Amino acid sequence: MRKPFIAANWKMYKTTGETKDFITNFLPAVKAVDNVDIVLAPPFISLSLAGDLLKGSNVMLSAQDLYFEAEGAYTGEVSAKMILDVGCKWVIVGHSERRQYFNESDDFLNKKTKAAKAAGLGVIFCIGESLDERNSGKMFDIIKREVEGGLKDVDTDNLVVAYEPIWAIGTGVTATPDQAQEAHAFVRDRLRDMYGAKADDIRILYGGSVKPDNVTEIMSKPDVDGALVGGASLKPDSFEKIVKFG
Ligand code: PGA
Repeated sequence: MRKPFIAANWKMYKTTGETKDFITNFLPAVKAVDNVDIVLAPPFISLSLAGDLLKGSNVMLSAQDLYFEAEGAYTGEVSAKMILDVGCKWVIVGHSERRQYFNESDDFLNKKTKAAKAAGLGVIFCIGESLDERNSGKMFDIIKREVEGGLKDVDTDNLVVAYEPIWAIGTGVTATPDQAQEAHAFVRDRLRDMYGAKADDIRILYGGSVKPDNVTEIMSKPDVDGALVGGASLKPDSFEKIVKFG
């Protein structure tokens, strides 16, 4: 059915030297894992080095963001083509930190998603509600808007969706497995509205304080197909345990 997909989102952590140390330790430890798609998303500056180190391995590379234009006078930005060129197969789009600190809207993220897919990158598309939105009963409206807005006119090839409740990111508070399943089932229903039966092939990841000691329980839920891991992905032994959750 859906192959588990476990991705490390390193955010703004690790120099190139630290990236090299991690990969040198991590690769041999997960060499025999063939039942999980394993992905690392280092900062832009380390992608080229990581691409070289991961070549021929069972670990795929992802960027954490991109800009939607192909090239041009966009100081500081990085295009899909540049990301592909250094060996990435994936890019994260719409992480809540991008939405929150950089004001990225559904429409803007839709452009990024389309540009990434058109260039041949897979997209890990992130959605999720804040605590206020959950407590005021708006959670399902927000998730629906983010899915329908961000994925408008986007096909399902190499599309992965990550549900990350903002209140669970970096806080140590994890959604309970039942809360995750409830949200994931809702996301799957919206994807069915958009894509019909193809929605059943889309991996939906959970993100928000995933750790070695809670990953197995969360992964046991029928609509949880993987994890997007921040803090607990920064040490090779911790991320190894998560990847080997079964
Ligand atoms: P966390 O981050 O695992 O540190 O909560 C997850 C994410 O933001 O992708």
